[in-house]
Amino acid sequence: MTEFSFLLEKSGAARAGILTTPHAAVETPCFMPVGSQATVKTLTPDEIKDLGYQLILANNYHLYLRPGTDVIARYGGVHKFMGWDGALLTDSGGYQVFSLSPLRKMSDEGVTFRSHLDGSEHFFSPELAIKYQEIFGADIIMALDECPPVEASREVIESAVKRTQAWAGRCKTAKTRPDQALFPIVQGGLHADLRRRSAEGLIDADFPGYAIGGLAIGESKDQTVEITAATSDVLPVDKPRYLMGVGSPEDIVRGVEVGIDMFDSALPTRVARNGALFTRAGRIDIANARYEGERNPIEIDCSCYTCCNFSAGYIHHLFRTKELLAYRLATIHNLFFMNKLMANIRQAILEERYADFSRTFLSDYKPTDE
Ligand code: GUN
Ligand code: ZN
Repeated sequence: MTEFSFLLEKSGAARAGILTTPHAAVETPCFMPVGSQATVKTLTPDEIKDLGYQLILANNYHLYLRPGTDVIARYGGVHKFMGWDGALLTDSGGYQVFSLSPLRKMSDEGVTFRSHLDGSEHFFSPELAIKYQEIFGADIIMALDECPPVEASREVIESAVKRTQAWAGRCKTAKTRPDQALFPIVQGGLHADLRRRSAEGLIDADFPGYAIGGLAIGESKDQTVEITAATSDVLPVDKPRYLMGVGSPEDIVRGVEVGIDMFDSALPTRVARNGALFTRAGRIDIANARYEGERNPIEIDCSCYTCCNFSAGYIHHLFRTKELLAYRLATIHNLFFMNKLMANIRQAILEERYADFSRTFLSDYKPTDE
């Protein structure tokens, strides 16, 4: 059995490393495509691999509700269920309970919530979140956390920090599989002191990696970076740092700058299905009339399958006619762009020119609000 390990090839503010898991070795900084329902929407596992990805994300909340733990147990876990033999990370569901469940009741014991699918009532405790994630069998599993809205009062956020820390300890105790790495999640809202306290409390319990949660949920981008930096600063140098739910190109470039190693976001795949395609100048809206009849590809020097084989005018036509191929070709382009971005980021770090890379990227790339 492969041990979980993290090897830093280049240390400093921006870092480059290799994360080894039982199913794959992953070069960091890395972006993880989101496959909440055990599928990265529109793509096959072979296509995800061909795009350069070794590590993807699935979600405890979604898979617990549907198809359910019994069904996935019958297949021996999510890997076999979805036909993915690369590395996998499952989020605990703490965040989805907050963002998707219409009604929930928190206590120190756990969280009672209603399914967003049929209104049925369910309960997650730290112990159950681990039990389900052990059935799902991901290489990296997440501790159950409480993620209050950014605008919550300091008291509410402080209590979430305490509870999240207690829950991380209970997750660690409940864990039985030696082939899975458990990461806890730092909370603390926009309060730098609470973030530090949250991180320090989790570090004391010693985990193989640490996540930063409760960000990119409505605060400004500058605040996201500032809080990420303050948190990243106190995390151990030799352990991977995962910034949850952050994944626009510009946010990743800034996150790497303050020491983040892992990112995930549904944004690249979600906006692709809305016709928003990444280029080095920013996002374009392929459904815009200006692309009608365009014979060049989305980006002239992009070597993705989509750009090598199809014109921007053809993709425009597919979106206008709502043809299913539109969503696949757009997803392929955006995920290729993200992987190329991560490779470029990594190379710049290894060659000690990340500050330059970041400055050039951010001055060329015009962000879109979302
Ligand atoms: N995904 C994005 N943010 C969060 C968070 O704060 N907690 C969890 N569990 N998942 C997230
Ligand atoms: Zn392309």
